[in-house]
This record gives sequence, structure tokens and C-alpha cells, in this order.
Amino acid sequence: MARRGGASALIVVLCSVLALALQGAAEPLVPAMFVFGDSLVDVGNNNHLAGCNVVCRANYPRYGIDLPSCHSPTGRFSNGYNLADRLAQRLGFAESPPSFLSLSWNAGDATSLARRLSKQGINFASGGSGLLRTTGQHLCGEVLSMADQVGNFTSLVQMLGSIDRRAAADLLAKSLIFVSVGSNDLFEYADRVAANRSASRNDTEFLQGLVATYTAYAKDLYAAGAKKFIVVSPSLVGCCPSQRKRARDVKDVDLSGCRGLPNNLSAQLYPMIDSMLDGLSQELPGIKYSLADSIKMAGNFITNPGNVTTFDHACCGSGNFGGESVCNSTVHLCPDRSRYLFWDWFHPTDAVSEITANQLFVDNGTFVHPINVHQLVAAP
Ligand SMILES: *[C@@H]1O[C@H](CO)[C@@H](O)[C@H](O)[C@H]1NC(C)=O
Ligand SMILES: *[C@@H]1O[C@H](CO)[C@@H](O)[C@H](O)[C@H]1NC(C)=O
Ligand SMILES: *[C@@H]1O[C@H](CO)[C@@H](O)[C@H](O)[C@H]1NC(C)=O
Ligand SMILES: *[C@@H]1O[C@H](CO)[C@@H](O)[C@H](O)[C@H]1NC(C)=O
Ligand SMILES: *[C@@H]1O[C@H](CO)[C@@H](O)[C@H](O)[C@H]1NC(C)=O
Ligand SMILES: *[C@@H]1O[C@H](CO)[C@@H](O)[C@H](O)[C@H]1NC(C)=O
Repeated sequence: MARRGGASALIVVLCSVLALALQGAAEPLVPAMFVFGDSLVDVGNNNHLAGCNVVCRANYPRYGIDLPSCHSPTGRFSNGYNLADRLAQRLGFAESPPSFLSLSWNAGDATSLARRLSKQGINFASGGSGLLRTTGQHLCGEVLSMADQVGNFTSLVQMLGSIDRRAAADLLAKSLIFVSVGSNDLFEYADRVAANRSASRNDTEFLQGLVATYTAYAKDLYAAGAKKFIVVSPSLVGCCPSQRKRARDVKDVDLSGCRGLPNNLSAQLYPMIDSMLDGLSQELPGIKYSLADSIKMAGNFITNPGNVTTFDHACCGSGNFGGESVCNSTVHLCPDRSRYLFWDWFHPTDAVSEITANQLFVDNGTFVHPINVHQLVAAP
């Protein structure tokens, strides 16, 4: 299952070594961060999945064009860093937690396992995946679903726990769990609805199903010892360039020129995730969380532009809104990436991820609640 070409392996190594060299040697604020979710936070897992097709890998130019020094693709769906990287930097890590499938360790060797788990943490995220097991399979072939990601994490923690129970509990209680997932479930549902207009449907039931699986994963992570969660809700998913284009095709354009149904689902989902986390915090002793309202964050980019002034077009792409094709080396590329909300047809620019990571960290309750990541880290 795990496989990669020699050339891309070299580039990944080069990039991470350079990332280390660029960062200071400050002590990180937490021992580790474990990342779960989709392409918004994938740092290269999909490159190692033999059955994952090219649409769901970001391992070719112009991905990575703005990464310091190496300017090369690494599997990140960004012109530079993504939200997981930017948050890791904010937390003082010299390197972003590495992708799970890029790691190798000796399963029976407690020291190597403990070192691996506690160094920066591990990133399990996989582009195209979602809360539901089947999400991403049609588009991508093979992805790591949330069930796979959480399963891989808990089996590592169990392995460490069977060797040194206290070390595992201590590590997990102090570390952060960072989850950004759900957008792909919404896209796939909206496309099923568009393809089958007359069929009866129940959006509430669908969203309740998503939240039920989300709850189960959160409980699995808690049962493994995790206490501190950062959750980023799906954003205005109907406003990305691919969906603005698709909105016209399926005649579902909302007042902002975005696709109506995915935005509507996302807006309904946020309060459901909010009450899920509120409920879990009452049910599970010691659990703490920061929930980011990414719909509000996206709205703020549009109402308070700052440096980011282009919201509807992808920086790298072709056709209407730059949203009709993948970003690659032959399509249009904008000169000033930091002025764009969207890098490609689905994903934000590095500039936007940097601003978002900063908001996660310092926000006063406008976008992130009940506490921000800085407070989450400091909490006992
Ligand atoms: C990770 O999960 C996948 C899917 O559930 C499984 O096939 C694989 O063996 C797991 N890998 C490890 C190292 O646990
Ligand atoms: C949709 O599902 C919800 C939850 O199961 C249910 O309460 C509601 O009555 C359903 N709506 C319709 C129109 O069937
Ligand atoms: C979603 O759309 C339905 C109608 O299809 C509407 O009643 C509801 O208010 C919308 N919800 C949100 C959050 O926009
Ligand atoms: C806006 O861009 C300028 C020039 O690139 C930069 O110096 C400044 O820090 C940016 N401001 C923000 C808020 O990112
Ligand atoms: C880039 O994408 C465009 C649009 O899908 C396609 O026509 C072109 O062949 C692709 N270029 C490369 C180098 O893959
Ligand atoms: C949070 O900060 C914003 C400005 O960044 C301000 O407008 C708002 O009133 C503040 N909210 C609270 C609850 O302090």
C-alpha cells in the first residue's frame, strides 16, 4: 500500500530539512499534535496510497511553488504551507507533524515508537476523505477515511500503552488533536442530490448521520487518552471556485454567486458540531476544545478584505472562476498568491491558512470558542 517514487521522496526530505533550518529552536508549546481530516490539512499521505489517483494527490507542479527554498510539491494542496503546517509553526514546532504513511518504525521497539509519537506528533489526514467511510472513494480511488485515520492513531497509542502506560497517558493528555473534516461529505451529498433531483431526501437526517459518526470518532480519540481538541468546521464550501462554476451548471446559484446547497448544509452543520462538542465536554471528564467557525472566518475575508482581495477566482486553474480544472503547470497562474482566497479550485492559499492559524491561536471569541488555541494549550 505504501509506495512512492524516488524523486518525490527526495523532494519531501529536502523540503522538511529546509523547514527545520528556517525555524528557530524555541520549545514547542505542546509535546505533539495529531492531525485528522482531509486535503485542507493533508501533508502527503495520499502520495503513499497506491490506489489514490492523481486528482487527489498534490504531488506535481505548481503545488508547493511558494514553499521556502524548495518550491516543490510535497502533497500539500496549497501553493505553500497548509493550515496544519501554519498551526504547527504557531505552536513553535520546527517541523509540521509528518504524514503517517511517510513514517517507518519498529513496531516492537518502545523507544522508537515513543520518540516518533512524541516528537511533533503525526498527521493522518488524507485529501478527498470525509466523515463517512465511502467519501472520496469514487473520486479518488483509495483514501484514508476518518475511520482509518482514527483506527491507525488508536492502534499506535495502544501499542505505546502496552509498553509504557503512563508515558502514553501523559503524552496524550498534553497533546493536541486537530480535526478538519466534513467538506467532502457535503460535496458528495450535494452532487447526489443534483444528479437525482426528483428523489426524496432528508438533509437533516444526512447531517445527523455525519454528526453521529463525528461523535463516535471523538469518543474513540478520548478513549485513547486525548483531551484537547481543535475542531475546524466546514466553511462556505459552496463558494470555492469549482462550486461557483458547478452552481451554474446545476442551477443552484445563491445570492453570493456560490452554490446554494453545500453552503446551506454547511450552515446547518456548524451549530450541530457546536452542540456535539458542548455535549461531549459535559459527558467526558477533562475534555477541552477550541471550535473554529470557518463560515464566519470566510465571511470576514470578504467583508474585511485586507491583503486578500480576490475571493471568487482560483489563483491557479482554468475556465470559469479558474474552477474548471486542476491546478497544474500549464494552466493560468496568478502573480500575487497572497491576494487570493483560493489557490486552486477547492483549496485556500498559504496566506489564508496563515491568517486562519493566527485566528485559531489568538481569537477573542468572535471566530473561535469557547477558548482559543492559546488558552487550550495553557489549560491544565
Ligand atoms: C492503518 O489503517 C489501515 C486501514 O484501516 C490498515 O489497513 C493499516 O494496516 C493501518 N496501518 C497501521 C500501521 O496500523
Ligand atoms: C427528516 O429526518 C428527521 C430526523 O430523522 C426527522 O425528524 C424528520 O421528520 C424528517 N423529515 C421528513 C420530511 O421526513
Ligand atoms: C437551508 O435551506 C432551507 C430550504 O431549503 C431553509 O429552510 C433553511 O433555512 C436553510 N438553512 C440555512 C442555514 O441556510
Ligand atoms: C499585507 O501585505 C504586505 C505586503 O506584502 C505585508 O507587508 C503585510 O504584512 C500584509 N498584511 C497582513 C495583515 O498580512
Ligand atoms: C493541465 O490541466 C489542463 C486542464 O485540465 C489540461 O488540459 C492539461 O493537459 C494539463 N497539463 C498537464 C501538464 O497535465
Ligand atoms: C474581539 O475583537 C474584535 C476586533 O478584533 C472586536 O470587534 C470585538 O468586539 C471583540 N470581541 C470581544 C468579545 O471582546
